[in-house]
Amino acid sequence: MNPEAGSYLARYDREPDETKLRLVRKFMAQEPLGFFKELRENRPVLVTPQCTLVALYDDVIEMLNMPEIFTVALYHPKMANDYLMAHDGDALHYREKSIMQGMLNRDDLPRVRRMTENVCKSILQKAGGKIDAVPDYCRMVPATLVQRYFGLVGIDREDLMEWSYWAQVDTFYNQPFDLVPPDESKKITDSHNAASEKLGEYITALILCRSLKLKLKSLLAPLRTPKRFLKNLFAKEPHETHDDIVTRMLRTSFPEEVDFDIKRVGINAGGLLIGTIETTAQATVQAIQYLLQRPELLDAARKAARLDDPGQFDAIVWEALRFVPISPYMFRQTASDYSIAKGSQHETLIKAGTNVLALTQSAMFDNKAFDDPDSFKAGRNWYHYFTFGYGSHECLGKYVGMVMIPEMVRQILLQPGVAAKRDIQYDGHMPKSYKLTWT
Ligand code: HEM
Repeated sequence: MNPEAGSYLARYDREPDETKLRLVRKFMAQEPLGFFKELRENRPVLVTPQCTLVALYDDVIEMLNMPEIFTVALYHPKMANDYLMAHDGDALHYREKSIMQGMLNRDDLPRVRRMTENVCKSILQKAGGKIDAVPDYCRMVPATLVQRYFGLVGIDREDLMEWSYWAQVDTFYNQPFDLVPPDESKKITDSHNAASEKLGEYITALILCRSLKLKLKSLLAPLRTPKRFLKNLFAKEPHETHDDIVTRMLRTSFPEEVDFDIKRVGINAGGLLIGTIETTAQATVQAIQYLLQRPELLDAARKAARLDDPGQFDAIVWEALRFVPISPYMFRQTASDYSIAKGSQHETLIKAGTNVLALTQSAMFDNKAFDDPDSFKAGRNWYHYFTFGYGSHECLGKYVGMVMIPEMVRQILLQPGVAAKRDIQYDGHMPKSYKLTWT
């Protein structure tokens, strides 16, 4: 037990201004739950010289509900391609998010779950009792889904993984409040830029080939073309299925006024990749470790994993991710002055241009919405979780993630005697290695 636990704010107040944020980051990395509890009880809005932290459930919701005040401006330099995620409450965000939500038809989910199950089983069977779960399972499964379900075929999965990795690290963990040394920060941004260029070239080629194929198919349809000729002409890439999201997008034509042309199809196809691999991998590996380290929970999880209805098992995974989320916060930058928690004792004026951390993990331990928050209770009210974000920027891939993550965890726990050699090894914020064995 840390002798100073419970006195985070006293230590913070004694710290010189220049190193206050560094200390806050240390608390968040090492003892987030104790630190957040003290913030909720004693200083729900913590104003550091470099950024402001918001710890209560109600205040986090207030922030995330106002995208034009608490903006995603910090995403802008990371997304030169004008992706919807970098837009706040405007026509492009509203239009493209809803089009993409329609493409990712929720009626597909049972098929996506079965696909995930099959991919997991095949990887684990081939692994023969030992695997480095981070690269070879937690990243490999979503990368395979990116090919089979989203349709990003004709490229190595390792390339997809690398592009997703640099986008995630640079966008989410190379921000001013991450205090990354300048040299390292530049290296990350350079790697991200190089990855974006390769991704752009690949997506252009993919979209062109796919549209030509579709066009050719429709031109050849009325002709009596020999079957063998057609078979060769339209030979499938490995992992290509008869229906994927990229093909769906290309088969849909919008009137000019909707402003969703082939260029927008490409940008959104790239977004599907970027959003999927690293988020899923980190959530999955952290949930697996959380359960493997707790024998009484593991026992309950294993029993639930064997049931036909996945509901009970999935609820265990969502509750585990409250304790080990992929990030304890979401960040925003204020576009104008704003008084948060108006009328309360902790009402605080946040000046325009401030970077603000919405401490979503803290909000998930606020007893305003979570009874007995320190206890692990599967089956809590799903609407209170922030695992997939909240408000207008809530995750586009939420429903895909909601079947993929628990199914991936389930298949690992179903391996007899599965155990970890040692804890997850990290490279900065990102998981790097987690070696598992089973009999
Ligand atoms: C499965 C495939 C996934 C795709 C295609 C995807 C895509 C996206 C996109 C496009 C956004 C931005 C939405 C917007 O700005 O309106 C987003 C936001 C978000 N996603 Fe995902 N995502 C996926 C999986 C995940 C997973 C597995 C997690 C976490 C376990 C996650 C967590 C989040 C969070 C927290 C946000 C909110 C970010 C913010 O508010 O700033 N996503 N996702």
